[in-house]
Amino acid sequence: MTTAVDVESTLLTLFSPEGHANPYPIYDALRAAAPVSFHSGLNVYFLTRYADVETLLGGADFRTPDEDWADEHKPGWRDHPASVFMHTSVLYRNPPDHTRLRRLVSKAFTARRVEALRPHIEADVKRVLDALEEAGRDGKVVDFQDIVSFPLPVSVIGDLVGVPQEDQGQWRWLVDDMAKLFDPVLDEETHAKADKACETIFAYFWELLAQRRAEPQDDLLSALIATRDGTDALTDDELVNLVTLIFGAGFETTTGMIGNGIHALLSNPDQLALLKADPSLAAGAVTEVIRYDGSAQMVLRIAGRDTSIAGTDIPEGAIVTGFLGAANRDPERFEEPGRFDIRRAANRPLTFGGGIHFCMGSAVAKVQGEILYNELFARFPGFRLAGEPRRRSVLAMRGFDHLPITL
Ligand code: HEM
Repeated sequence: MTTAVDVESTLLTLFSPEGHANPYPIYDALRAAAPVSFHSGLNVYFLTRYADVETLLGGADFRTPDEDWADEHKPGWRDHPASVFMHTSVLYRNPPDHTRLRRLVSKAFTARRVEALRPHIEADVKRVLDALEEAGRDGKVVDFQDIVSFPLPVSVIGDLVGVPQEDQGQWRWLVDDMAKLFDPVLDEETHAKADKACETIFAYFWELLAQRRAEPQDDLLSALIATRDGTDALTDDELVNLVTLIFGAGFETTTGMIGNGIHALLSNPDQLALLKADPSLAAGAVTEVIRYDGSAQMVLRIAGRDTSIAGTDIPEGAIVTGFLGAANRDPERFEEPGRFDIRRAANRPLTFGGGIHFCMGSAVAKVQGEILYNELFARFPGFRLAGEPRRRSVLAMRGFDHLPITL
């Protein structure tokens, strides 16, 4: 692991079925070899230590790959709807553009709006658990992802944004196809699927936008349409891009979080017993789920000037990826990082990012986890795994495609 070739092949393992199954020993090996790993073929620097990933997220030396960057480095990117979506989204914008957008969005996407969602979330949890009870009758083995982890966040974000229930079923695979774009190792077929998914989602939101402009409702899309900063307002393109991002960033990651948490809790019966005995531990349990097996595994930045990280020179323009999942298992930051401990003190994982791009929906995700885990284990005391789960074949968004359980 000390030679460059070893580091490069180890890095690639992360993006293979072995890495999708369990990236953590691979992160550990990379972190032990060097704080910064470089892959010459991908031409990307990778970070695995908590302190370095935190610097990447907060540091003024790093930028996100915005439109100007794409114009310079990705010829033909404007022919790909998925690339256009990504490079023009708030996620990939830089100040002052990002500052303007984020200010406008924050006026509509408020803590009060999230708090007002709570009764909807409780009702959504009850509904998916009713469906689980029905499907899992008589000890039948069912897929938890299909019945709970996917429909719950789609309903919650649908309620938040204003997508009617009857339209929500189509989203899973569309967003699944679109989100694969976040993996740095991508083939042409996957890219084409992402483009198609993006076009379908955009078409849907253009129509919904027209409806809400004509007849505003009590939902986030209507609030975003109405939001003003002085005379400044969001344009139609920005609105469609934003709600697509909220769906894209919001439900797949939460689907991943819910399933990862169920798996972690069921695999650590002592911790599950603690939670069952004291439901007030739910917030800590969700934070530990997010640290131990986060659904967002990486962030990407571009060096805005010549800089260095942990003694490694990083030239201006270099692509740097921070492995959030590796940072969250850094023994310099977390005691016994491989242990799942829902009462862990000073637990501040980097799974929701940091700095100016810190996740806008972290509270929406956390509340779902807290309500769901408590309700689920109270209602189904015999709930357990029933077969081999199947991981998703993607590293960036970690979760399960299939999680067989029985009640
Ligand atoms: C467990 C669930 C979630 C995880 C792990 C997660 C993770 C992240 C991360 C890592 C970032 C920053 C990426 C970067 O800096 O490059 C981010 C940004 C963002 N997230 Fe989340 N997210 C989750 C749920 C949500 C939800 C539920 C919503 C919306 C309802 C949401 C909306 C956003 C938005 C709009 C941004 C862009 C913020 C900006 O660039 O200023 N996320 N999320």
